[in-house]
Amino acid sequence: MGDLNTKDFFSDPAIAQDLPGYLGNMRAQCPVFREPFQNVFMVTGYDEALEVYNQQVEVFSSALAVTGPLPHLPFTPEGDIRAQIAEHRGEMPWTDHLATFDGTEHTSHRAILQALLTHKRLKANEDYVAGLVTRLVDGLIDRGGCEVTKDFAHALSTLVIADLLGVPEEDRDDLCKLMGPDPTQLGGDEGFKIGPDPLLFLHDRFLGYLTERLKNPKDDMLTDLAQSRFKDGGDPGLEVKARLACFLFGAGQDTSARLVAFSFRTLGDRPDIQKKLRSEPHRIPEFIEEVLRTDPPVKTMSRLAVKDSVIGGVTIPAGSVVSICSGGANRDPKHFADPDSFDYDRPNVRDNVAFSRGSHACIGAPLARMEVRVALEQFLARTSDIRISEAQHGPARARRYAYEPTYMLHGLQALHVEWDRV
Ligand code: HEM
Repeated sequence: MGDLNTKDFFSDPAIAQDLPGYLGNMRAQCPVFREPFQNVFMVTGYDEALEVYNQQVEVFSSALAVTGPLPHLPFTPEGDIRAQIAEHRGEMPWTDHLATFDGTEHTSHRAILQALLTHKRLKANEDYVAGLVTRLVDGLIDRGGCEVTKDFAHALSTLVIADLLGVPEEDRDDLCKLMGPDPTQLGGDEGFKIGPDPLLFLHDRFLGYLTERLKNPKDDMLTDLAQSRFKDGGDPGLEVKARLACFLFGAGQDTSARLVAFSFRTLGDRPDIQKKLRSEPHRIPEFIEEVLRTDPPVKTMSRLAVKDSVIGGVTIPAGSVVSICSGGANRDPKHFADPDSFDYDRPNVRDNVAFSRGSHACIGAPLARMEVRVALEQFLARTSDIRISEAQHGPARARRYAYEPTYMLHGLQALHVEWDRV
């Protein structure tokens, strides 16, 4: 996949068309490769990715975890940049949200969300998911096929997280419409801008729900969030809680929808694997892990070097951006034997870093795994064959898939499948 010196990962949409090839090429040069366009240290080795994720906050800040190098830092790094990050945080996109918090600010806010995701609540949500998937499949099954992202995955993931939070039923369809496609980041789209808070459009709505729950408590997560406290007894306030709710809502749906689509693509492109999985549906969890390994929905998560450090033997100067490419780490041949082959029997199938590691590791991973599992269980049980639409994507061995032009997320723009119903 092309010369690394002529293709800018952060602006060239062509890279999305052969992401594994590009990242593999990069790893072959160096698992911690300094790309020449944005000067970002691209981490494509497995051990090196863990090294970054497990570093202390004194070494790597998450302030630009979501956006990576774009837009550029609002300051010129000088020495240990902890104080500069603190001073300029407010000028950086997403910094009102959990994923970008550091240190005790992060642990205290994360603890609030974690306390809400109880076993009981996740179990109740699973019952909802089973009913929801049945309804969605009922509506689709006689059509003999669908466009997975639009007709199924988007609604599934949005409604699941809406139910988990306790968003009123009557507002859920509206939220599905609001959570439209992501903005284009690559290819010079002038319309693309990252505002200081990209989830602002949800904020007032969630603030309203939380205010209402304080007055009229219900047995739901929004009520628990409205009443929640930090571990030291302090009250974060409703504004902060609304941001936590918005982030949870946003983080929980686009990513899972992409995982659904890649799972269907694998089933359609690999009839041998589909047949095997149909004969052992209890292995769906391992199948999902292997989809997460080969097509992780989050393309890059980034860190900002607070001070000079060394990763994989490479010196990272303070102020540098380090982007962990899960698609690279997940195909590192030093960790995964025959990494380009899809094999859910591999002994270390759960080692993938799709949900990241360390203090910021995804707290929604159990939910995402559960909803995709339930969706696949039902689809496999109610169909006898799932195929990729040749009319839309071309014949086997010459498929055409269009990928979303963003450097943060790895996703299919559309996936047309057909099936025979049981
Ligand atoms: C396939 C689906 C998903 C993928 C691939 C995914 C991936 C990730 C990744 C890579 C991070 C790490 C950030 C970092 O290290 O900087 C993360 C964080 C997070 N995810 Fe997920 N996620 C998924 C689904 C979900 C769901 C369903 C929820 C909500 C229920 C969720 C909520 C969160 C939250 C709140 C964080 C921030 C954690 C923190 O900063 O402490 N995610 N996710």
